[in-house]
Amino acid sequence: MTTHSLANIEAAAHVSGKSTYVDDLPVMEGTLWVKVFDARVAHGHIRRLDITAAAQMDGVVKIFTHHDIPGENQIGGIIPDEPLLAAEEVHFQGQPIALVAAETEEQAAAALEKIVVEMDPLPVITDPREAFRNGQLLSASRTFSKGDTATAFASCAHVFEGQAESGGQEHLYLETQGAYAVPTEHDSVRIFSSTQGPTAVQRTVARVLGVSMNRVEVDVARLGGGFGGKEDQASSWGAFVALVAYVLKRPAKCIPHRMEDMRMTGKRNPYSSDFRIGLDADFRIVAYEATFYQNGGAAADLSPAILERTLFHAANSYAIPHVQVTAHSCKTNLPPNTAFRGFGGPQGKFVMEAAIDCAARQLGVPAALIQEKNLLSDGYEFHYGQIAAGAEARNCWQALEKKHPCKSVLSEIETFNTAHRWKKKGAAWMPICFGISFTNTMMNHARALVHVYSDGSVGVSTGAVEMGQGVNMKMMQVAARIFGISLQRIKLETTNTTRVANTSPSAASATADLNGKALSDACFQIRSRLETIARSALNASENAAISLQDEQVWLEGKATDLSWTALIQQAFVQRVNLSAKGHYATPQIHFDKTTGKGHPFAYHVYGTALTVCTVDCLRGTYSIDLVEVVHDYGNSINPGIDQGQCEGGIVQGIGWMTMEEVAYNADGRLLSNALSTYKIPDVYAVPQTLLIHALETEGAELAIFKSKAVGEPPLMYGIGAFFALRNAVLAFHPQSSITYSAPMTPEKVLTGLYNKG
Ligand code: MTE
Ligand code: HPA
Ligand code: MOS
Repeated sequence: MTTHSLANIEAAAHVSGKSTYVDDLPVMEGTLWVKVFDARVAHGHIRRLDITAAAQMDGVVKIFTHHDIPGENQIGGIIPDEPLLAAEEVHFQGQPIALVAAETEEQAAAALEKIVVEMDPLPVITDPREAFRNGQLLSASRTFSKGDTATAFASCAHVFEGQAESGGQEHLYLETQGAYAVPTEHDSVRIFSSTQGPTAVQRTVARVLGVSMNRVEVDVARLGGGFGGKEDQASSWGAFVALVAYVLKRPAKCIPHRMEDMRMTGKRNPYSSDFRIGLDADFRIVAYEATFYQNGGAAADLSPAILERTLFHAANSYAIPHVQVTAHSCKTNLPPNTAFRGFGGPQGKFVMEAAIDCAARQLGVPAALIQEKNLLSDGYEFHYGQIAAGAEARNCWQALEKKHPCKSVLSEIETFNTAHRWKKKGAAWMPICFGISFTNTMMNHARALVHVYSDGSVGVSTGAVEMGQGVNMKMMQVAARIFGISLQRIKLETTNTTRVANTSPSAASATADLNGKALSDACFQIRSRLETIARSALNASENAAISLQDEQVWLEGKATDLSWTALIQQAFVQRVNLSAKGHYATPQIHFDKTTGKGHPFAYHVYGTALTVCTVDCLRGTYSIDLVEVVHDYGNSINPGIDQGQCEGGIVQGIGWMTMEEVAYNADGRLLSNALSTYKIPDVYAVPQTLLIHALETEGAELAIFKSKAVGEPPLMYGIGAFFALRNAVLAFHPQSSITYSAPMTPEKVLTGLYNKG
């Protein structure tokens, strides 16, 4: 197939505005608008909440507080520690306290202003280490270990230690959070939600309403981006509208404005970490220890699971005999932080890279030398017990080395830096290794429902949510390939809990693998029924090889004149079941949480990136000149989509590491609360040259059609930008006291260039 024939079928509708999102749904008569009244102090006791004046405002139908919740006032997905509406205390600025349901959005907004709340303030903590010192933890601390670091450090020729900080990141999905609920018969409710996890919304709504899950239907057409921000945090918006619709028996809609969304929702978890790294005389890493202080915010949300993935990926793609890593999920008075592309993996890898950089600086060797020497290969036992198989860490590095030998890159930069007083270049290599599967083994399963209609057209439902990553197109390709028909015959239905139940969120980069394998199970069931019909229609023997290709039935490798549509008609006339439900549960994976050992991942994704940047040493400004990557796509099912995922991930990773600065003041108020104060990469911030080469490989058996997951891993290439910039700063001011503190904003570069050292 040519690349053109694989162009994402949905792209034209996206760019011409035909694709619909929650806010585009035609609004039913009687729909109420819901606005959220949220806390303006980060920690306090609610002394008095007065809604009487607000309730009398024009158009207001009802004001909801926690008293109006028929079921449980609880939305915590992993740990029940988060009320839907604050009852006695508030724990972060932006925490929902009350809901206004009014005839129009303007009336709801006006009523918000009339709600009076009096608070007794309590102490505010925003720093994770301070929270840790006060014993404020969201979940039990975790340690993963292998070997014996204590003894190993004693034998090391070189030991270095330090601290590293990485910041938060605002998801900034183009479509904000939001949901629309419609009351239905039998005391039920249907919710159109912008969620990565339709079942999570369903479960949360059922809990809040005090009804069984079968009374809650959740439907998702697509998202204008999620990036992890809608894996768990879409649930509260679903619950707001469901509550109003269920109690008032009227449709209800809630779409926060951008600033409300930014203020009320959690972001990537910032981390503050300590590291210790020990090397032998040959620069082999012998021992590594790290302690991670995760800034979880005011409720657990997904932070305990994110913390676990930090520990899994703490050693990145390096083979280290002795590892001990510990992580604390610290409770602070910030909005609960949550999943964000990489799910704690980037935070863990950043610290490992800081440790290597720290060692390299003090040893006077390039970091790349230590990185390359320590890359893992097949047979390596990860510190969590899994044995590396199909490891491409060295292959990716070497393929990049062929294009840009490390030595020549560094010597060219040195030449440039010697010749330029006010401009300095820096380079950094960033290898990645990312495990594919939900780290929680029980989440790794999926289902799909396929109908072949009597005219030969096909309807496909899966648990996969399209959020721009192209999973719908990939699902269509799976069905088209198995049925041997054109993509035009296939329609991807919305993701709906009544068609496909008990879904895991579309997350962990595993959506296409899990749902694609469930879908192929369903398609193969139908195809095998069709093969029987084809054999009898063609008077072929029981063992005759039948295949479906180019919309024709093929017999023993030759096209017959039995077409797909004729075959379907015959099957229908013969009363064959043309529908099937498929199921898939990732085989081979297991993990024992008590020992921290097992085989948690179906496979790993590898790659290496080279980043080169130039710093303007007068202004502190910079540009990323080059990012060149060798990436392990496996056998890509859709190279165009996968390359797009790589490019987007890299730019988002660079944004996290360089310009995106989530800032709260000491009172826990979000300062970077709009696009004027929170800078994300635009077209000018994209690397001037961005080249991604596919590593030639077979791919992984447990990946859909051997096409490896691609959603999250490339984000981590962006970490290279931090170290490239740091190297450029140090080329100008070798004694600089610049720390391992991301993001590397122009301000930090400028102070790094001119600090006293
Ligand atoms: N790409 C786009 N365009 N929009 C998104 O919201 N989310 C990312 C990634 N790529 C995202 C995206 C995240 S966080 C994940 S986990 C994966 O896509 C989810 O989809 P997948 O499992 O199909 O890769
Ligand atoms: N990745 C992403 N999302 C998740 C995971 C994970 O490993 N576990 C639970 N939600
Ligand atoms: Mo992605 S952070 O797993 O939604």
